[in-house]
Amino acid sequence: MNHNSIERFMNSAKERNSEFMENISSENSNIIEVSHLIKKFGDITAVDDISFSIRRGDIFAFLGPNGAGKTTTIKMLTTLLKPTSGKILIDGSNPATHQDKIRRSFGIVFQDPSLDDELTALENMEFHGCLYRVPKDIRRQRIEELLKFVELWDRRKDLVKTFSGGMSRRLEVARGLIHHPKILFLDEPTLGLDPQTRNHIWTHITQLNKQENMTVFLTTHYMEEAEKIARTIAIIDHGKIIAQGTSAKLKEQTGAPTLEEAFLKLTGTSIRKESADVLDRMRMGRRLWRRKRG
Ligand SMILES: Nc1ncnc2c1ncn2[C@@H]1O[C@H](COP(=O)(O)OP(=O)(O)O)[C@@H](O)[C@H]1O
Ligand SMILES: [Mg+2]
Repeated sequence: MNHNSIERFMNSAKERNSEFMENISSENSNIIEVSHLIKKFGDITAVDDISFSIRRGDIFAFLGPNGAGKTTTIKMLTTLLKPTSGKILIDGSNPATHQDKIRRSFGIVFQDPSLDDELTALENMEFHGCLYRVPKDIRRQRIEELLKFVELWDRRKDLVKTFSGGMSRRLEVARGLIHHPKILFLDEPTLGLDPQTRNHIWTHITQLNKQENMTVFLTTHYMEEAEKIARTIAIIDHGKIIAQGTSAKLKEQTGAPTLEEAFLKLTGTSIRKESADVLDRMRMGRRLWRRKRG
């Protein structure tokens, strides 16, 4: 081997090694990797070149005012929307090319209620279990486990339309977990619920995170919730991530005593006092209405 070929050999070995190390590190630590992600709707840039990664087993809160681009990001991560450009890896795979594999790897609680009101809690669970092809015996057992876990087993034969907002939300969480997902996406799961019910839901979620090392990706309007349960936070405003880190780091960076105030300093708007858009007011109304009935 002459000098040049040795150098070439060394360089290609170095390259292979760094590729290998990259794969290893994404296998072991980051379950979600996003780089330079962009989504445009016509002239609107809903998500504007965002990059972040989430470690396996983390509880990650994605915070931002209405219209910041949170739901659009979740939709891209969960194969429901195609990015305009950028790269996404979920558990090492690309959602655009491994749709089925990725869909099996996560559960999702959508921003808008998505249960069938005319079915019972049990029927909603059964239907979802069939969609995910969970075998019958395992399905039965898993449904019982989950409904007990969210404290709805006694109400399993009742129609969902008789449920309160909080009960419906808990059922949606249980439904999202039927196939043992590695990641749970929660888009505003507690919007419009009373503090006690919100607490109840987060207790269940943190318990699952601990027991099964399930990664949680959540969005919420309630800063004190994020501060309490999230280990990592990213703040998005006008489609851009403007800060990320632990709650302690964000408070230190802004010199604010609470996450709520840190958010205010970073975005210039309060996440709660800002007037909700029409769609959000409708969502609130709908959930309050469900709660009154239940
Ligand atoms: N399907 C769509 N067509 C056009 N604009 C959209 C669509 N979905 C979202 N948007 C716009 O993209 C921006 C981000 O929306 P969204 O991701 O829902 O924000 P968030 O969930 O943070 O409230 C908003 O300006 C919204 O109006
Ligand atoms: Mg949203």
